[in-house]
Amino acid sequence: MRLTFVRLNKLSKMLDFYSQFNPSPLSIKQFIDFGLSACEQKSFLFLRKELPVRLANIMKEIHLLPDNLLRMPSVALVNQWYALSFTEILEFEKTDGNDSITLDKFCKALVKIRNRHSDVVQTMAQGVLELKESHDVDSQTENSIQYFLDRFYMSRISIRMLINQHTLLFGNELTGDPTLRHIGCIDPQCDVVSVVKDAYENARFLCDQYYLSSPEIIINEHNPSEQGLPIRTVYVPSHLYHMLFELFKNAMRAVVEHHCDDDNVPPIEVTIVSGREDICIKLSDRGGGIPRSLTDQLFKYMYSTAPQPSKSDAHTVPLAGYGYGLPISRLYARYFHGDLMLLSCDGFGTDAIIYLKALSNDAHELLPVFNKTSSRHYRATIPTGDWSSCQSNGLNVRQMGPYSPNFLKPHQSNQMS
Ligand SMILES: Nc1ncnc2c1ncn2[C@@H]1O[C@H](COP(=O)(O)OP(=O)(O)O)[C@@H](O)[C@H]1O
Ligand SMILES: [Mg+2]
Repeated sequence: MRLTFVRLNKLSKMLDFYSQFNPSPLSIKQFIDFGLSACEQKSFLFLRKELPVRLANIMKEIHLLPDNLLRMPSVALVNQWYALSFTEILEFEKTDGNDSITLDKFCKALVKIRNRHSDVVQTMAQGVLELKESHDVDSQTENSIQYFLDRFYMSRISIRMLINQHTLLFGNELTGDPTLRHIGCIDPQCDVVSVVKDAYENARFLCDQYYLSSPEIIINEHNPSEQGLPIRTVYVPSHLYHMLFELFKNAMRAVVEHHCDDDNVPPIEVTIVSGREDICIKLSDRGGGIPRSLTDQLFKYMYSTAPQPSKSDAHTVPLAGYGYGLPISRLYARYFHGDLMLLSCDGFGTDAIIYLKALSNDAHELLPVFNKTSSRHYRATIPTGDWSSCQSNGLNVRQMGPYSPNFLKPHQSNQMS
């Protein structure tokens, strides 16, 4: 018991210490340059501080979550995983980076941590579900959770990126194919069209399974600076694939459902443009679109208009239903300062656009920083609207309209006599 208390006390002190530092965002260019010089000891020295800093920054935010959420079994489990991983990295705080045994142990520790955290997204989602099933969740708590999940999942993406780079470069995870051009998980010549086709084929496979039909694809590529050549960029192909796969699944579901009475379903048109600053990938579907009143909901975790996949189907990949596709894909896009947006014509179709930074020098990691401003988001304040509301749910002092007896009263002195 006492030992546990001492350990917890030490953990809390170390958390305070490491959370004082801001994470150091790296650009894709820095990842590449570092990967080309590939010095294991340098990477070790960087990570043994940077990983605890990133972990501590987000763990501090976990601790600010509403008590009733923290008490949910799945959230407690995630909390434990983070505490354990944080402690395991700190064991390397004072070890010798020249020693190959230490470097080897470090690599193995990272693999263990990555495996431990592989189910974090589902487990945290489960925790939020547990809260919603057992408590009434008010809109303030809902906003804090949304704010937290964006930061928490972004932090996780970044930590996995660091771990993957180290273990791919210095562990024995690559099969040793010397022709492979990847630097860790980054492809310096990522062929955008081939990732698009790959994501489309896999989404189409699911769509055919569910609906027994699927839309075709039309790809238009515009590469003004290198006419006729395929668009290539420096990127993490698995991140791009993740976003495209989610967008294709959404577009296909919308198209097939919207045209369920037609013999043919219209195709999904993909436009890929390489600009000076941005690479833009636009998926245009004719799936009936989304009303504007729902656009605020789209990026909310767990917002879905699909039936939730049943637990007995847990071993199969669902086409839709968890409501995590869009918010997590947007995080992947934003992670290297890109973005993901949806624009819809209600009644017709939707354009989903992915922006990537065209220059690897501009593509810096976007990381959550724990500080006073971020802490404020977890405090219970009821935001007061400073625009009129379109809902007519009765008048009160904050909602004065032209038919209110008090309308114009504050301005009466300005009126002409
Ligand atoms: N291209 C689209 N056309 C119409 N509705 C869409 C489109 N993309 C997303 N949506 C809406 O957004 C919701 C959330 O999408 P997502 O986050 O991927 O979760 P899920 O696919 O699990 O429902 C979908 O349930 C759907 O209602
Ligand atoms: Mg989806």
